Parts: sequence; C-alpha cells; structure tokens
Amino acid sequence: MLRMAALSKVYRTEVLETHALRDFTLHVGEGEFVAVTGPSGSGKTTFLTIAGLLEEFSGGQYQLDGVDTRGLNDRQRSRLRNEKIGFVFQSFNLIPDLNVFDNIDVPLRYRGLPASERRRLIGEALERVGLSARARHYPSQMSGGQQQRTAIARALVGRPRLLLADEPTGNLDTHMAQGVMQLLEELHRDGATIVMVTHDPALAARAQRQVHIMDGQLIELAAYHDPRHDPRPRAQDPQPRALDLPPGAAAAVMGASDVAASVASARAPA
Ligand SMILES: Nc1ncnc2c1ncn2[C@@H]1O[C@H](COP(=O)(O)OP(=O)(O)OP(=O)(O)O)[C@@H](O)[C@H]1O
Ligand SMILES: [Mg+2]
Repeated sequence: MLRMAALSKVYRTEVLETHALRDFTLHVGEGEFVAVTGPSGSGKTTFLTIAGLLEEFSGGQYQLDGVDTRGLNDRQRSRLRNEKIGFVFQSFNLIPDLNVFDNIDVPLRYRGLPASERRRLIGEALERVGLSARARHYPSQMSGGQQQRTAIARALVGRPRLLLADEPTGNLDTHMAQGVMQLLEELHRDGATIVMVTHDPALAARAQRQVHIMDGQLIELAAYHDPRHDPRPRAQDPQPRALDLPPGAAAAVMGASDVAASVASARAPA
C-alpha cells in the first residue's frame, strides 16, 4: 500500500537546515495496522504529511498503492489523496461553524454525489462512530471524544483504503482514547490499512506492528502478533486482506484547496 525507499525531507529556512527525514525506508502492506512512535521532533508528522501527499519530499521514492508519487502535479496528487486517504489529526480540525453532519459532508462535497446519497453515507458514518443522535450538534457542544469521533467519521465516510492518524487520542482521556482506539481497530478489521502515530506505548502495543522514528530515521520494532487472532507467524502471512469496497467508492477527504490549510493545521499545536 505504502512504499518509501531512502526517502528524505529537508526543511530549509534562512538560518537552519533541518533533515526531518533521512534515508527513510518503510513498507506498509495492504491491511496492516502500524503504530509509529518516536520522540518529539523526530519526524513523525513529517512522515504522515508526506505519506498523505500533503507535502513533497526532497529525495528518494514514495509509491502509494503502486503509483510513483514523484513528479505528480498538484491536481494528480490531490486526486490520488482524495481517492485513497483519510486523515485524523490530533487537534480534530473540525470546522466550528458547521454541525456534525455538515462537517462529515465536507469530503463528500468534492465528489458531486446527489444529496440523498450523501445523507445515506453520512448516516452510516455517524452510526459507526455512535453519534447518530448528535448530527445537529456543533463541535463546541461536544466532548473531546465526540469531536474526535466526528473527525473519524469524516475520515471514513469516503471509505479510504489508507487511514493516517496523527496522535488521534493525544487530546483525550483514557476512557475516550479507548473508544477511539476500538473504532480504529474496527476499521482495520474491515480491511483498512492504518498508520497511527502515538505517544502511548499501550496503544502502540495493540497495533500489528510497531515502528519507531528517531532523528528522522526508521527503526523497526518487533512485530506484535496476537496468536488468539491468527496462529500463523507474520512472516508467512503475506496475503493482503480483501477489501469490501465498491470500486471508485473512495472519496475526497480533502480537496486541493484545503491542502495548505491541512498542512498548517496538521502542525498546529494541539
Ligand atoms: N515547515 C517546517 N519548516 C522547518 N522545519 C520544520 C517544519 N516542519 C517541521 N520541521 C522540523 O522537522 C523536524 C520534525 O518535525 P515533526 O513535526 O515531523 O516532528 P514530530 O515527530 O511530529 O514531533 P511531535 O511529536 O512533537 O509532534 C523538527 O525538527 C521540526 O522542527
Ligand atoms: Mg507531530
């Protein structure tokens, strides 16, 4: 699903050159659930924004679902992103002036679907995250956990194959964090590939696989394998899971015009 090889990212300002990612090589297979940990400033968000085609990289290679992303123009990048990727940010990034229903509708608006179809998809997403009764609430009228579940509904309403989550539980108490984690696990069981950045070792341990970023470089940690779910060792389990997504069902989570704002808000302090 995601293949990065010797990828690098250099940020240059007048006074400083930061090598945010260096010789960064990572393969994430279809249907995997990967947790990413690492100290502050190590490059986790940089990795996710590049993985999500929100930012360009400086060197190396990145293939997303078999497509070489180098040299794509802005339009091609946003199309690819809109087809395949859903984002969940630490700071929720809900639009305060829109209620829950309309927030979830944002990515669907880019698809030109009839209103009745959008209502149906939004209804399903709301049910999935347990917020059917709150469709007309505004973000300020909801708890952090409910806001994050709304953000997850927005990320999943277009049925993305790849879900990228940057500290999705970072602003939540333990109880709410559990709920959000269970939701991600459910999406994973349904076939989504998930890459989740987290500071919480207990949550990271629940992923199938853990990788660590240190100074912009990737360190692979022991793959976690729960024998209750599948007695086979991972090395002999290369079969990608089948996805039950209708062809072309994947949708816009963000349109091209949102990209700059998304990058800015992905980096906004929580
Ligand atoms: N737009 C930018 N311009 C210059 N430097 C940047 C920019 N964005 C990130 N950096 C630098 O790149 C490095 C990696 O940043 P990144 O946001 O990826 O860290 P992180 O691992 O997500 O940290 P945290 O856990 O605090 O969120 C840091 O040294 C940061 O200062
Ligand atoms: Mg970060």
